[in-house]
Order: sequence, then C-alpha cells, then structure tokens
Amino acid sequence: ELSPIDKAKFVAARRAADLVEDGMRVGLGTGSTAAWLVRCLGEMVRQDGLKLRGVPTSTRTAELARSVGIEVISLDEAKWLDLTIDGADEFDADLNLIKGGGGALLQEKIVATASDHMVVIADAAKEVEALGNFPLPVEVIPFGWQTTQSLVEETLVSMDVMGRTATLRMNGHEPYVTDEGNHILDLHLGRIGNPRQVAMMLNQIPGVVENGLFIDICDTVIIGYGDGRVETRD
Ligand code: A5P
Repeated sequence: ELSPIDKAKFVAARRAADLVEDGMRVGLGTGSTAAWLVRCLGEMVRQDGLKLRGVPTSTRTAELARSVGIEVISLDEAKWLDLTIDGADEFDADLNLIKGGGGALLQEKIVATASDHMVVIADAAKEVEALGNFPLPVEVIPFGWQTTQSLVEETLVSMDVMGRTATLRMNGHEPYVTDEGNHILDLHLGRIGNPRQVAMMLNQIPGVVENGLFIDICDTVIIGYGDGRVETRD
C-alpha cells in the first residue's frame, strides 16, 4: 500500500505514461516522481510491447530505464524528442518551474528544450503562488566557484527577491558534483517576483552554467493527489 505522497506521484506518472505512443522518442526526467514514470513505461514495454526510445536526464535515470527494459539513446542520437516527462520542485500558475532539487537541472533543461512537448508530473504540494520558497539550484563551474557565488549574490541585490544567500550544495563533507562535473549553489530567495529576469541575469554571470528556473518550457502539468485524483493544467 502506497503512502499518500507516493500515491499522488504514482497516479500523475501513470496518467503521463499514457501520452507515450509507439515510436516516440521520450525525454525521461529525474527524481522520485520521474522514477515512477520510468517504471510505468518499463511495464508498458515489457507487457504491451510499447516501442519507445528514451533519453535520460541523469545517470541515475539511465540506469533505472535500462533495468526496466527501456531502450536508452543519447540526445544526439535522438536529435529531437516528441515528449519529455519530468518532475519539478515547484510550479506556478504560468507553468513556470523550479527544478534541480535532484541536481540534474542542466540535462533536464537541455532535454526539455529539445522536445515538442514538456509534461511535468507533480504532487499537489508542488504548486505555489510564487516561485522561490524552494531553494533555486544554480549549476556552476568548479573553477572559482566562490567568486561566482559572490557575483551571484551581488546580482540578486537588484532583483525582486526576498533573500539572496547562495550556499554550496554538499555531499557529506565534499561539494556535490553533477553528472557534468560541476557544483551547485542553492539560492535561498524566498519569493521570486520576476523569475524571467532572475533566470536571464543568472545565466549572464561567467561561471554559471545554468539555473533551475524553467520559463515557458513546460506545456502541461499533471497533478496527482493522495486520494488518487489527477488534474491536468495546460
Ligand atoms: C531533479 O534534478 C529535479 O529537477 C526533479 O525533477 C525534482 O527535484 C523533483 O523531484 P521529486 O520528484 O523527487 O520531488
């Protein structure tokens, strides 16, 4: 028996899996909700003979996809994707997102941007009135990361945000390292008044590779509830 939160993630993932049609190239997200999706798709491949090729957004997802029988290809092999299905840490009424809680925001953004359609699957607790309560992940090059951190904090001074502390994400006593060999700064902003501007300004800082704000990328959010209900926004 699933807990209400897992049930919510599962029913959203289950609904999204039905969007996958034979022959599609599908971007596979990262995180606990996306893991439900990958398991659902694996079952459809094994039991119903569904034909799909998946482009994973992390080494974790690649391993899971292979283990459940999904054919894994690289983004360059796929060239373009019909659909990407991924989780999110927050979404707002405009379907803008914060992603990267799981550290895979760079590949996630590249893959989502290279897709005809991006669908987010989320439990209802991820819906917010304004983005920013969840710390915004920013992927930075290890070289000079402290200088980059200072520049990020200075840039935030002129932005419409409540807080502006950037902390280095750790993995025990070592800095967290992404699949691409970079580090992550988590920005404690509280409330982001203008996500589009914040996203643009962050990416202009040398040393910043990408940020976890997904603006105008997501087309549909499928929301799952603990009682099994599902709601679609687009
Ligand atoms: C991974 O880098 C993130 O963008 C995830 O999509 C996000 O953290 C959602 O994860 P959960 O589904 O585990 O909440």
